[in-house]
Amino acid sequence: MPTSLNWDDGEIITVDQRRLPHEYRTVHLRTVDDVIDAIQTLTVRGAPAIGLAGALGVALAAARHPADRAAVHAAAERLAAARPTAVNLRWAVDRALRRLSEGPGAVLDEALTMLREDGEVNRLAARRAADLVSSLGGPGALRLLTHCNTGRFATAAGGTALGAILDLAERGRVAEVLVDETRPLLQGSRLTAWELDEAKVPYRICVDSAAPAAMARGMVDCVLVGADRITAAGDVANKIGTYGLAVAAARHGIPFVVVAPESTWDRTIAQGSDIVVEERAGHEVTVFGGAAVAPAGARVFNPAFDVTPAELITAIVSEQHTVRG
Ligand code: MRU
Repeated sequence: MPTSLNWDDGEIITVDQRRLPHEYRTVHLRTVDDVIDAIQTLTVRGAPAIGLAGALGVALAAARHPADRAAVHAAAERLAAARPTAVNLRWAVDRALRRLSEGPGAVLDEALTMLREDGEVNRLAARRAADLVSSLGGPGALRLLTHCNTGRFATAAGGTALGAILDLAERGRVAEVLVDETRPLLQGSRLTAWELDEAKVPYRICVDSAAPAAMARGMVDCVLVGADRITAAGDVANKIGTYGLAVAAARHGIPFVVVAPESTWDRTIAQGSDIVVEERAGHEVTVFGGAAVAPAGARVFNPAFDVTPAELITAIVSEQHTVRG
C-alpha cells in the first residue's frame, strides 16, 4: 500500500484529497505557506496527517531560516494554528520545534522519525482494536460502520479505525462495511470507499442520516471511528456526525470503538466542552458539486467536528492502551 505523505528532496509529496475519487493527483508542498494552505483546504486532512505535514513544515522553515530562530518559531506557530481541533497538529509541530537548537538537520530528522513512527503506531493500534472488535462482535463475519476517513489518506500509513477494519478484513472477519458519506465534504464516500475499494473489502455507502436506521434494523455489529482530540476524561472530538452515531449505538447496544494514536490525547483538557471546534465556511454546505443547493445568502451552521462524551464510548484504543468506557 503506498503511503499518502512523503518527503523527497526538500518537498512534501502528498495526495490532493480534494480531487478524489475523480483524480489521484500528487501535490508538492515546498513552503510553509503551501503547507498551511494544504491543511486549511483539506488537501491534506485527518489528524495524524496534518500533524506530520505540520512537522515537515517546521523543517521547511528551519531550512529556509537557518540563522533566524524567531522566524522558525513564528512559522511553527502559524502551522500549529492552521486548524484548531486536532491536537496532533500542535503536538507534532512542537515536537519538531524542540530540536531547533540542534539545527535544521535535527528538525528534519525529528519530522522524518515521526513519519516513520506513524506506520508502527497505526499497525499496533489497528491490531489492538481489531482484537477488541473481534471479541466484542461475536463469532463470524461482522457488519461494521465507520464515519469520515481514518485510513491511509488520514495518516502516513495504514490508518487507525480504517486500519482496524482492514486488519479484520485480512482475518476474514468483515462481512460488510457501511460507510457514512460524511457530509458536507464526503470524506466517507470519496476517500474511505476509495480505500475499501482498493483493498477489495465489501462496503456500502449510506447517507449520514441512514446510519441510525441501519442500527435500528440490526445491520451493524460495531461502530469504529477515529478522533481529533481526546480529553483527560475520555471525551472525543471527531468529524461532525460522530456524536449522533454514538447516541444511536448506545440506544441499540452496539459497541462504539474509537481508534486513535496516543498523540491524539490532550490530557491538559478536562472535558469535551473545552475543545475548540472548528467552524468552516458556509459554502461547503450550500454548494454541492459546484451547484447551489440553498437559497442565495442562506446562513449556515457548519461545525467540522462534534464531541462525544466518554460515557457513550465502549473503548478508546491507541498503540499503547485500551481505555474502556
Ligand atoms: O476534517 P477532517 O477530514 O480532517 O476530519 C478528519 C476526522 O475527523 C478523522 O476522523 C480524524 O482526524 C481521525 S483520522 C485518523
